[in-house]
Amino acid sequence: MGCAIIGCGKSLPALAVANDDLTQLVDTSDEWITTRTGIKPRRIAVGETNVDMAEAAARQAMGLVEGGYCEAPIDPESIDLVVYSTCTPDVLVPSCAALVRRRLGLVNAVAFDVNAACSGFIYAMSVAESMMASSALGVAGAGRRNKVRRALVIGSERLTRITNWKDRTTCVLFGDGAGAAVLGAGKKGNPLALSFSTSPDVAALDVPGLAGTSPFAGTGRPASRLSMDGRRVFRFAVAAICDAVEGLAAKAGIAVADIDHLVLHQANERILAAAVKRLGIDDARVARTLRDTGNISSACIPLALDRLARAGELEDGDLVALVGFGAGLDIGACLLRWK
Ligand code: COA
Repeated sequence: MGCAIIGCGKSLPALAVANDDLTQLVDTSDEWITTRTGIKPRRIAVGETNVDMAEAAARQAMGLVEGGYCEAPIDPESIDLVVYSTCTPDVLVPSCAALVRRRLGLVNAVAFDVNAACSGFIYAMSVAESMMASSALGVAGAGRRNKVRRALVIGSERLTRITNWKDRTTCVLFGDGAGAAVLGAGKKGNPLALSFSTSPDVAALDVPGLAGTSPFAGTGRPASRLSMDGRRVFRFAVAAICDAVEGLAAKAGIAVADIDHLVLHQANERILAAAVKRLGIDDARVARTLRDTGNISSACIPLALDRLARAGELEDGDLVALVGFGAGLDIGACLLRWK
């Protein structure tokens, strides 16, 4: 048995913040942000929580409301698993996945969160896929209990809660939002290839500051705010994307040029352009959401998938490569057939 994506959805918060708006906070300009990153507005959650956005994206992916991609509404009771990727949860306990389960009435689903920063959606999907595969093999699931036939996979982030609004080198890059996908039964051998790798460098992108919150732990840093060495991450990202895509193609026995759609984590337009050039892939095959959303960490990939699916650009049998990369530094990639 294999699996396939049978639903996609997304949710963006109401507030759109333009590059010009950011000039009130830091010494920057629309011209700098546009040419160096490709980002125009980003959305910022003010009234919406992380779980609010995830719930809305999941409702679309399950066809319970309009606005997503889903061939037929999916019965909430048929969802056996929720894997929720986030590095900016509203609360640590219970998991955001458990909160979404309650809101959507997913009474049969086991639910948990994963945090692999910007590559988190790929890891969440891989965990779901392997639980489905072991369930199909009979390794997991006795009777009805714990059988995993359908999984809701979510990437949802409120990155602007950990953004350092005094640091112009990072605050212009990030935004908030959620994407979701439902995995169901698919053709044998799908996905075709997975790739997990790391280039351990935790200092390149981190959110320090939890030290010091205990009165016994010393002073530490007072607040958790994102810090990053942009150039270091940039170089890593371009090399990591190329390595992952070439690895997926080799594993599946296809040429890179055979890939119909390349869905990359949306960090910077120049990262996308450099990787695409190095891979020699037709630029029209590369999904882009960055311009309208900024970098939303693990929500980027499901958001881009949702956009492609709704636009009718994904045809049955198309080869789709997904590549996430980010803090860690970790990379996760997946090559699948659309249906
Ligand atoms: N507005 C105006 N000027 C800015 C600026 C801003 N928002 N941010 C940085 N600058 C300035 C710098 O201070 C520097 O000035 P200086 O030359 O006087 O020192 C100049 O612009 C160039 O800075 P540099 O860091 O070399 O720019 P860059 O071309 O590397 O672009 C990033 C910076 C952060 C956009 C880019 O490195 C990047 O996108 N890296 C990857 C980050 C990322 O995607 N992380 C998440 C991965 S999951």
